[in-house]
Amino acid sequence: MSDMIAVVTGGSGGIGAAIAKMIALKSEGHLKVCVHYNGNVEAAKAVSSEIPGSFVVKADLATEEGRKSLMDAVLAQGTPYCLINNAGIDKPHEPALMVTEASFAKIIDTNLKAPLFLMRDFAKEMARNEGGVIVNVSSVLARKTVVGSAVYRAAKAALEALTKQYASELGPKGVRVVAVAPGFIETAMTSAIPEEQRSVIRKDVALGSFGAPEAVAETVWHAVENQYLTGAVIAIDGGMAL
Ligand SMILES: NC(=O)c1ccc[n+]([C@@H]2O[C@H](COP(=O)([O-])OP(=O)(O)OC[C@H]3O[C@@H](n4cnc5c(N)ncnc54)[C@H](OP(=O)(O)O)[C@@H]3O)[C@@H](O)[C@H]2O)c1
Repeated sequence: MSDMIAVVTGGSGGIGAAIAKMIALKSEGHLKVCVHYNGNVEAAKAVSSEIPGSFVVKADLATEEGRKSLMDAVLAQGTPYCLINNAGIDKPHEPALMVTEASFAKIIDTNLKAPLFLMRDFAKEMARNEGGVIVNVSSVLARKTVVGSAVYRAAKAALEALTKQYASELGPKGVRVVAVAPGFIETAMTSAIPEEQRSVIRKDVALGSFGAPEAVAETVWHAVENQYLTGAVIAIDGGMAL
């Protein structure tokens, strides 16, 4: 097993689990997978049990201590080559006039501050070593209005801006940065959407359905292996943001 590590934040969640398994499968043992989680240890262990040579790390990435503990755990296992900034939350859903300071802080800390500082710190390690690739998981909602998603949308739009900024500054240092922007994907995040609302959303999707986590994972793998790809935001939304 290689000591080049692929870190998947939120590997205990629906999309993160699919990404972790896809990287393990496609890299054929050349990347050692770190399955990160925050609260759901059972899910993280279940994912890790399917990936030979992988390891799990618990960290609350909304905090500086949590981000540092993830970095320390990864460095103890090898050399970071790949960072998938996938962990994220979409709640609380607050209509525009009901947005609170507390929910703003929670969503921004998790969905923007965490990937920004992980990107900064992992990219330093990558630049010092053999280069690397960072994939940020954005959302179709960076380009689409859905009631209750003001702060989530702002965080994902800012993450896409950071993707381009870091791609530009880090390209000469051998580090690529790409974003993927999923549409509505079947995971815990979307499972509570009532059928009535799901049928309204489906009408907005050219391909007419929610996507599978594996569709996102395939695109993340493409971003990892395509050595001439950087600064791009790749939509996997069934044609929702058209
Ligand atoms: N599902 C969709 O339709 C959709 C669409 C567009 C974009 N996305 C994006 O895709 C990513 C993954 O979403 P998903 O659908 O797979 O959601 P999910 O199943 O709810 O998983 C979310 C993951 O994020 C982790 N997480 C949450 N807060 C954290 C924190 N403070 N520190 C560290 N980890 C934390 C969770 O860890 P624990 O469970 O272990 O606590 C979990 O692994 C998110 O960035 C989301 O915004 C999803």
